[in-house]
Amino acid sequence: MAYSILSLLWLLCGFAAVVAMLLRLGSRAAWAKSPMILWAHRILGGSFVIGYIIFLICMIGLYQVNAPRLPLPLALHAYLGVLLLPILLLKELIVRFFKRYFTALPYVGMVIFCVAFLVVAFTGGHYTVLWLKGPTAKVTRDGKRHKVSVALGREILHNKCAQCHELKLPYLYHRTEDEWRNTVTRMSRKDPGLVSPKQADAMVGYLKKELGAAE
Ligand code: HEC
Repeated sequence: MAYSILSLLWLLCGFAAVVAMLLRLGSRAAWAKSPMILWAHRILGGSFVIGYIIFLICMIGLYQVNAPRLPLPLALHAYLGVLLLPILLLKELIVRFFKRYFTALPYVGMVIFCVAFLVVAFTGGHYTVLWLKGPTAKVTRDGKRHKVSVALGREILHNKCAQCHELKLPYLYHRTEDEWRNTVTRMSRKDPGLVSPKQADAMVGYLKKELGAAE
């Protein structure tokens, strides 16, 4: 959830940076030419790039957990996310060294924003919608309570739990939260790296809600 909120803020930064530059280049109003607008563009754009680098580093960690079995939306998210790197470099090169292509910059900026939008839409947007529209559940891990999206848990279960046996297997049982936690932990041990702790939480939340037994 934190990633979803951060990535929406990140997109907002990118969008505002593009708008600042378009105003500067396209508007006839005197204020649009003021240095303030240029600085707004630089600060917003700079924050966008820093945000990108932080996301990239965090995602490389997550990727190592999920790499062999990324479902399509996550694979697109990863490819497009990496694609941003050369486009951002290209933009920086034009700004610093190839000033004669300066007029192309607003288009490069718009392409960067559109790619960033797609990157977020495949994950952050999707997860946010799941959170907002669906019910949530509370699960316990290491003595702490975590709130999870039941719809997200269902999606993860459907992605992860049909790799060795039929998906219907877990649906044959009704178990308590602790029992489902044990099942998920036991299954994860068969294939280390199958799920992250947060993904396991979401699945336990879904299983408890959908296939729960009286405690
Ligand atoms: C690495 C392969 C593998 C994956 C991935 C896997 N399972 Fe299993 N699962 C097995 C095997 C093998 C058995 C039968 C032996 C056993 O029960 O340990 C089994 C049995 C089960 C059973 C019936 C046995 C029991 O617990 O009473 C359930 C329920 C189950 N899996 C649920 C899940 C869920 C939920 C997931 C996703 C988190 C999952 N499995 C992912 C290999 C896997």
